[in-house]
Amino acid sequence: MILPLAYYGNPVLREKGASVEAVTSEIDQLVEDMFETMEGFRGIGLAAHQVGKPIQLTVIDIRTAEDRPSTLELGGKEADPHSIMPIVLINPSITPLNDPIQGPEGCLSFPEIFGEISRPDKVRVKALDRHGKPIEFVCSGLLSRAIQHEADHLHGVLFIDRMDRATKSGLRDELELLQDKTKSAIANDSAS
Ligand code: NI
Repeated sequence: MILPLAYYGNPVLREKGASVEAVTSEIDQLVEDMFETMEGFRGIGLAAHQVGKPIQLTVIDIRTAEDRPSTLELGGKEADPHSIMPIVLINPSITPLNDPIQGPEGCLSFPEIFGEISRPDKVRVKALDRHGKPIEFVCSGLLSRAIQHEADHLHGVLFIDRMDRATKSGLRDELELLQDKTKSAIANDSAS
């Protein structure tokens, strides 16, 4: 089922995600629905917050973004990043391994809004997979960027928080418009 998205202005996006204690049948169903939602909206990553559930869960599939390369190291060996796609990360923790670089980002909670964001290129990722088994890998490029963007969501951090001042002020009108639209949609929903 494609779930409704939480857009900028929805307070759920600012919540700190609760850690997931067990992969229950509800979590399984949520993962299925999140993949369907992500594909429906043509995203490469989606955090549970973005479908209204502030928990430490995100899904990622970078296979459609063919023009932006990634690298992957699994068990100390180079591997094909596509070999682990699509991925589910539960309770992820991210360790930066090098200096930040700029790269373009968008977010399904911010339709038509894009900006250059500075993030470490290479990170170590530790998480549980969709079966609750521990996984660990090192990645760079788009995969690294997508994971860092999604892990931010799980802590209530949004990509606009990481934009430099000039980029963010250039988007100020669009951001205010989106925020107002989201807030009035929420007010209408709760009134009906
Ligand atoms: Ni996002």
